[in-house]
Amino acid sequence: MSTLGVSFTDTALEARVLAGVEEVERQLAAAVDSPDRLVAEAATHLLNAGGKRFRPLLVMLAAEFGDPVAADVARSAVVVELTHLATLYHDDVMDEADVRRGAPSANSRWGNSVAILVGDYLFAQASDLVSDLGTDAVRIQARTFSRLVQGQIRETIGPADDEDALGHYLAVVADKTGSLIATAALFGSKMAGAPTDVQETLTEFGERIGAAFQLADDIIDVASETGDSGKTPGTDLREGVPTLPTLIALRSTDPGSERLRTLLGRPLTDDAEHAEALALLRDHPAMAEARSYVRAEADAAGVLLAKLPDSSARSALQELCDTVVTRVG
Ligand code: IPE
Ligand code: IPE
Ligand code: MG
Ligand code: MG
Repeated sequence: MSTLGVSFTDTALEARVLAGVEEVERQLAAAVDSPDRLVAEAATHLLNAGGKRFRPLLVMLAAEFGDPVAADVARSAVVVELTHLATLYHDDVMDEADVRRGAPSANSRWGNSVAILVGDYLFAQASDLVSDLGTDAVRIQARTFSRLVQGQIRETIGPADDEDALGHYLAVVADKTGSLIATAALFGSKMAGAPTDVQETLTEFGERIGAAFQLADDIIDVASETGDSGKTPGTDLREGVPTLPTLIALRSTDPGSERLRTLLGRPLTDDAEHAEALALLRDHPAMAEARSYVRAEADAAGVLLAKLPDSSARSALQELCDTVVTRVG
């Protein structure tokens, strides 16, 4: 049976993970509530719109390397998903995105100010909850958030004149996305009381699979049809945000790519230019190269799992690596 992108052959594992994820949902619903009607409505909006809950799943699987039913495991997953949710509110303001999780983005529905402040409210709720998990957890959360935000800032500013654009992009991806997914794996294993070396391996795994997950998402932004991803395809191109496929295309020197190269690397506000760039990029060999890169990154994450004790949770994590790759076709 397939649940959340992982098919569980171990039914006891599946039951534990499902029970954990359901508990996380209950706590998330409580955390986004507010006595103020508008705050409650705006904060609940994206939570109820859907989402893959990739990070809570990773928390639950990482917790399998200790005591998976320890009470703090679910709470730590709530902290991670709330942090993620808050960054989505802010990210959609930055990226001027109209659609998120198949619903109108908060900024398109209530305007930028409300979207930013609701994101802040969700961070505050996450901070409140993480304080129950002890000083170490608070510090981990603060440092994760610091890395994530710095990744977003460096993406906004772009590479320095003497900086390699691909290197800059990969560092941004690690910070804005790898950081929180690494913390999901760390929190799950730490709250479950797993041995320190296991926590370290899982953190490294989370960082690596997290980066692959973002690279895959950037390919999907180019390749997907409207509606499939719950977001508007081509948003990165429209905003002039460089990503793996565009950076690879920009490096190509063949004369056939000249028109595409002139369109890339700047915001494409003109609809016709945007459609043209998207069509040219979709047909460009850079897409296949970007897909192979993601496959290699996900494989590298999978190799780290060999350091963990053999178990059905480890197999599920291995499968998660495959899921990240199959998303990009
Ligand atoms: C979106 O994250 C931002 C990225 C890091 C790619 P997800 O793809 O996990 O978004 P949801 O939670 O499923 O909406
Ligand atoms: C994802 O931002 C990272 C964070 C939200 C911190 P992106 O802008 O790359 O992701 P999508 O495509 O909007 O989900
Ligand atoms: Mg975005
Ligand atoms: Mg963004």
